[in-house]
Amino acid sequence: MKKNLKCFTLAVAVVSAFVFSACKESPAKTATKANMYFGVAIQPGDILDESKAKLIADNFNAIVPENTMKMVNIRPTKTLWNFSDMDKMVDFAQKNKMMVRGHTFIWHQQNSTIVNQIKSREDAFALINENINQIMTRYKGKIACYDVANEIFNEDGTFRKSLWYRWCGTDLYEEAFRIARAADPDAKLFLNDYSHEEAGTPKAEAFYEFVKSMVEKGVPIDGVGFQLHLCTDYGLKEDALRENIRRFAALGLEVQFTEIDVRMKMPASEADVAKQKGMYETLMRVLKDEPNVSTYMTWGYTDANSWVPATFHGYGDAHLFDKNLKAKSVFDSLVEMMRN
Ligand code: G3I
Repeated sequence: MKKNLKCFTLAVAVVSAFVFSACKESPAKTATKANMYFGVAIQPGDILDESKAKLIADNFNAIVPENTMKMVNIRPTKTLWNFSDMDKMVDFAQKNKMMVRGHTFIWHQQNSTIVNQIKSREDAFALINENINQIMTRYKGKIACYDVANEIFNEDGTFRKSLWYRWCGTDLYEEAFRIARAADPDAKLFLNDYSHEEAGTPKAEAFYEFVKSMVEKGVPIDGVGFQLHLCTDYGLKEDALRENIRRFAALGLEVQFTEIDVRMKMPASEADVAKQKGMYETLMRVLKDEPNVSTYMTWGYTDANSWVPATFHGYGDAHLFDKNLKAKSVFDSLVEMMRN
């Protein structure tokens, strides 16, 4: 009799543990079940620290290197390729079944000193060609999509006068997409930018017109990145965002939310915290409604290590986890939205 009772108790414990663990599905699994990517920008140190690595793998199903793939880091000199950190990130992603975004080939910042040796348009093309081929060949089948070019517009809708633009005009941007397509035909190719998310602004219009012209010319572009570095001071115009997303859908293009964060003036008021939560949630709702959006990448996960305060003095607390790596209520709310 006693033995039967013991067996019964054990069975109940096993079933309860099973039910409990099923209820406690990780946010990463929830995102995958929801058929979407819920991701985060990470730095090399994040995956060397066991507890941070676990936090990332449990809570996200996609990563993007915040700085590691930029030219200054991956190719600091003409002959030195520094793949070590990127290799570790890609291995980490593969081990944890995470999607990887590659960021970025053409940018006006964080270039290495090699760019000082550019003396002609041909030099610029050759350098970008080498970088794209080296990186995309190495990570073929392992990096799902790339920001081929990043932030090529000014706020007024003119092209940014970067060194790339001064040497090559827009030809280099278009050619980079062709080079990238040839290097890894399965990788999705994106043009990424910020403050162009809401239709109707000069930058949004110029960005859209340029992308449309690329599509019409047959340049192999698969989608556009909306960075979405937002601030509670300005809010988010949901209608203008949706209008923009839909016109890219009409061009047959995907939209990815690539670098989300929502900064607040510090110390944050209760009203701002509530507004921040609402803005993060709006983006998740938009993603769920709009069929050409399925990627929600956040730019960093913790307020303890954030690019925001150094760039926007007096602002911060922009991320989903606080300084002690504790998930904020906005994070739980996003997970709930993915679950439903
Ligand atoms: O690695 C050096 C280190 O050796 C040095 O001691 C230290 C001193 O300041 O600087 C370190 O480099 C910093 C680097 O981040 C790595 O932490 C740079 O100064 C700093 O400027 C750099 O900032 C990055 C920024 O891009 C560069 O513009 C941010 O981390 C990164 O989050 C940010 O990311 C960009 C996206 O790529 C494009 N969209 C906007 C987004 C936010 O600005």
